[in-house]
Amino acid sequence: MVADGYEITSLDNYKIGGKEFLPVDVAQQVNWVEGDSRDFGLLSELVRGKDGVIHLAAPSSFLMYEEDPIDGASVTTQGFLNVLEAMRRNDVRKLVYASTSAVYEGNPVPYVEGMTIDPPDLKALSKKWNEDAAHQYSTRYGIKAIGLRPFSVYGHDEFSKGGYANVISLFAWAAVSKTNPVVWGDGQQTRDFIYVDDAGLAFQRALEADLDTQEFNVGTGIETTFTEAIAMVEQELGVSLAPKFVDVPIAIYAHRLLADTTRAENVLGFRARTSVREGVRRVVEATKRAQRDWPELATAQMYFETLPQH
Ligand SMILES: NC(=O)c1ccc[n+]([C@@H]2O[C@H](COP(=O)([O-])OP(=O)(O)OC[C@H]3O[C@@H](n4cnc5c(N)ncnc54)[C@H](O)[C@@H]3O)[C@@H](O)[C@H]2O)c1
Repeated sequence: MVADGYEITSLDNYKIGGKEFLPVDVAQQVNWVEGDSRDFGLLSELVRGKDGVIHLAAPSSFLMYEEDPIDGASVTTQGFLNVLEAMRRNDVRKLVYASTSAVYEGNPVPYVEGMTIDPPDLKALSKKWNEDAAHQYSTRYGIKAIGLRPFSVYGHDEFSKGGYANVISLFAWAAVSKTNPVVWGDGQQTRDFIYVDDAGLAFQRALEADLDTQEFNVGTGIETTFTEAIAMVEQELGVSLAPKFVDVPIAIYAHRLLADTTRAENVLGFRARTSVREGVRRVVEATKRAQRDWPELATAQMYFETLPQH
């Protein structure tokens, strides 16, 4: 978006994310503000005079909500309400925000936008609340809010996420560090893996489109098993891994995840471009470059082995 001429202000509390992985020339063109989305005064000040808002700040992993439900739900709901209210008071009318594919849990795949949403856990429930609040602010105050439901987003340089990173990163980090990946279950579970650059593009498209408040899947429409993802990492590195299969330690766990991408393609004009094989190649390359700076990569996945029963 910087390359496309946008003037960007970023608000982040740096709990997880960091700007250290952005190219320096890009980072220099962003106005970085450190703060929390629950700080309404700060948010209101930052939103003033802007053309639109992209809202991503929330715990990204289901496990974070399990570990700290109060913080998880508070960031997701109060932070989002602050965004809506700051926009209303400052007359900013265009919002794109991250919901999640987890809202579909309990439905058969592929997930389609019109399906009944009855979230079985706090993460999905909080995001569903975001969608409902967005519709209310849209009807009452004319804010156009596009809710994107990303599937399994992965990408290069998500090192600061540690054990919460996408499994493709965890598999690549393990392999580059010459350790064996830990896999919950038998490896036959699937995800609709979408590369971060594609997911980012979906947010930009949604910001630029003149659409009424609605939700879109952000996926590829392709299912990949964990075993297949590990095989791609092996091929990329020319190694043979012996994954350690452990029992799934949590009660609510998606065994299949697949997006129906029809609405995103037809209405938003968005289609993912990066194959999983190409994405895995980029993650492996980035991991090789970063290996020296992040010696803890090999142990990030140990988190999954030692997770207490929920
Ligand atoms: N990664 C995925 O596969 C995925 C899938 C579905 C939905 N999502 C949603 O997309 C969004 C972005 O996910 P991500 O994977 O990029 O996560 P991320 O953790 O990489 O990014 C979230 C950012 O928000 C910041 N943040 C967290 N709480 C904050 C707060 N209270 N105030 C200010 N900043 C705060 C973090 O420091 C981090 O930089 C999240 O809302 C997540 O729920 C992600």
